[in-house]
Amino acid sequence: MFEIFVVLIYQSLSLVNFRNYEEASFGFSPEVNCFVGDNGSGKTSVLDAIYYLCFCKSYLNPIDSQNVRYDQPFMMLQATVQKHGDGDKLHLGLKVGQKKQFKRNDKEYGRLADHIGRYPAVFLTPNDIDLIKEGSEVRRKFLDGIISQYDRKYLDSLLDYNRALQQRNNLLRFFAENRTYDEESLYAWDSRLTAPGDYIHQQRAAFVESFTPVFNEIHQQVSGGAEEVSLFYESELHAHATEEILESSRSADRQARRTTQGIHKDELCFNINGHPVKRYGSQGQQKTYLIALKLAQSTFIEQATGVKPVLLLDDIFDKIDDKRVAALMELVSRQDFGQIFITDTHSERIPSLFRAIGADLRIFKIHQGTLLNEALTESNGT
Ligand SMILES: Nc1ncnc2c1ncn2[C@@H]1O[C@H](COP(=O)(O)OP(=O)(O)OP(=O)(O)O)[C@@H](O)[C@H]1O
Ligand SMILES: [Mg+2]
Repeated sequence: MFEIFVVLIYQSLSLVNFRNYEEASFGFSPEVNCFVGDNGSGKTSVLDAIYYLCFCKSYLNPIDSQNVRYDQPFMMLQATVQKHGDGDKLHLGLKVGQKKQFKRNDKEYGRLADHIGRYPAVFLTPNDIDLIKEGSEVRRKFLDGIISQYDRKYLDSLLDYNRALQQRNNLLRFFAENRTYDEESLYAWDSRLTAPGDYIHQQRAAFVESFTPVFNEIHQQVSGGAEEVSLFYESELHAHATEEILESSRSADRQARRTTQGIHKDELCFNINGHPVKRYGSQGQQKTYLIALKLAQSTFIEQATGVKPVLLLDDIFDKIDDKRVAALMELVSRQDFGQIFITDTHSERIPSLFRAIGADLRIFKIHQGTLLNEALTESNGT
């Protein structure tokens, strides 16, 4: 864990031919930036442009060329981000049909992977409700995404495990289809799964243990303690190591033609008042749960990497009551969180909330891919 924290601050952003923007430039507040406008005006796109520059890809549309404005040959995103003292210049250029080009301070990256993680961001969009509603794979991805940001060995273990798992499954299928069996070759893949499987389990368990109190505290603050929440990590590996699991499930695996047990079956359980939030939580309770998970993710990344991520909060007010909205805004505008980018279709709700809190707020009014105003600044309630 790091002692000295770096706060990531986006100072400016410009977009050319990005989605419905022909050309737009923004100068940001170091605290709260709010985008207001009608449906389809381009609010979420600004948040996604910031995410794009952090992770070299869109959060919402992974097909790069579909983010280029209709019928245009290229797009460009540029930002100045303060990390250590001077601002870093981030630049993403994409010509349709060509490889995207990513530069930091005018220097092109050899591998985009070298950029990812340097400028952390946490995005919360309405689609993220899948984290609660969908199957366990989404939640394993959530765990993997966070742990991989600070543990390189974890990421390598995941890649090794998934490769070996696929080979083992191919072999099991081959045995069944050809009515043959060779224990030696199966053992060879078992031994490739053992070390990464055990390491992933150990790191997931350690992560959930330290993540839980952070999550509980944030949830308590947003909900005002109205419901009791808990998360726990379910895994066959709590009781047995990967080697034993593969050994004992060998005949079931042959029957099923795939590897039936292991860390690829782990689950992260989300409970509310002792029951799964997926089945028993109301829509507002599910949304609150999701918000607390994402804010805890931000705090956790900061503790693990020493860098405070920017928070991208898209349409978060839907379904949550006024009390929770106020508690949430109060929480995110305190020093604990980094720079905030937030969208709303109501033009007055966020300004009045932040006026009451006294945060440095800049409001951007968006209409059909155009910034209508030079940003309005409201500092400390004035
Ligand atoms: N490649 C593209 N070229 C041109 N326009 C696009 C492209 N991709 C998406 N759009 C349009 O960009 C607009 C902006 O979308 P965005 O999601 O940013 O809107 P929004 O303000 O967040 O709306 P909402 O309030 O409904 O969430 C939409 O009208 C969308 O149809
Ligand atoms: Mg939107």
